[in-house]
Amino acid sequence: MKHQKLALSLLLAVGIANANNISIPTQTNLEISVDESQTLYEWLLVCNQHGEPGGNHTEKEAACSEIARLENSLDDTIEKAEPHGPCILIYRPANLTISGIVDGKQTLVVEEYPNSCVLNLTLTAAGLPHIVPFNENGSYNTGNNE
Ligand SMILES: *[C@@H]1O[C@H](CO)[C@@H](O)[C@H](O)[C@H]1NC(C)=O
Ligand SMILES: *[C@@H]1O[C@H](CO)[C@@H](O)[C@H](O)[C@H]1NC(C)=O
Ligand SMILES: *[C@@H]1O[C@H](CO)[C@@H](O)[C@H](O)[C@H]1NC(C)=O
Ligand SMILES: *[C@@H]1O[C@H](CO)[C@@H](O)[C@H](O)[C@H]1NC(C)=O
Ligand SMILES: *[C@@H]1O[C@H](CO)[C@@H](O)[C@H](O)[C@H]1NC(C)=O
Repeated sequence: MKHQKLALSLLLAVGIANANNISIPTQTNLEISVDESQTLYEWLLVCNQHGEPGGNHTEKEAACSEIARLENSLDDTIEKAEPHGPCILIYRPANLTISGIVDGKQTLVVEEYPNSCVLNLTLTAAGLPHIVPFNENGSYNTGNNE
């Protein structure tokens, strides 16, 4: 008897979970790329209100929760952010492109930074330090080292 009840409630729970994640559309779906020294680094990021984040972004959970905490649009937030902190003055341009959908809205960010250090400090100031994933040594984290 007890077992039957448990089985039934499990079945209901699964049914409800499935209904939820089928009916809720993808909230955020982005292609994030950095073009630096003739190399293109690219990550795909999918954030859902429910369920696991997706894509091949190497810091999905952190990036999705940063996007969820945005108070203004992604493009405005990045455009207005002022980098704070030291960077060696190397000119090695890093072009950031973020395109896709944030919270159901079409989004495009195209920015050029003098180097990846300024890119990192700007995104950190924007409250989005994980949207472009870095290794500790400052190289881009494309997941090839795990
Ligand atoms: C939907 O929910 C079920 C049950 O929780 C889960 O197994 C499945 O992976 C989910 N599907 C998606 C696309 O998130
Ligand atoms: C970065 O963007 C600038 C301005 O649009 C452009 O002149 C430059 O060629 C771009 N660099 C790369 C590596 O794409
Ligand atoms: C990016 O900037 C933050 C804030 O200054 C710093 O803590 C972090 O170490 C930097 N990351 C890299 C890879 O340089
Ligand atoms: C993610 O997938 C895209 C499209 O297949 C690919 O161009 C990119 O290199 C991949 N990035 C990583 C970090 O695996
Ligand atoms: C930086 O760190 C990554 C990950 O640990 C490693 O794969 C890469 O070779 C390092 N790059 C340099 C220039 O040391």
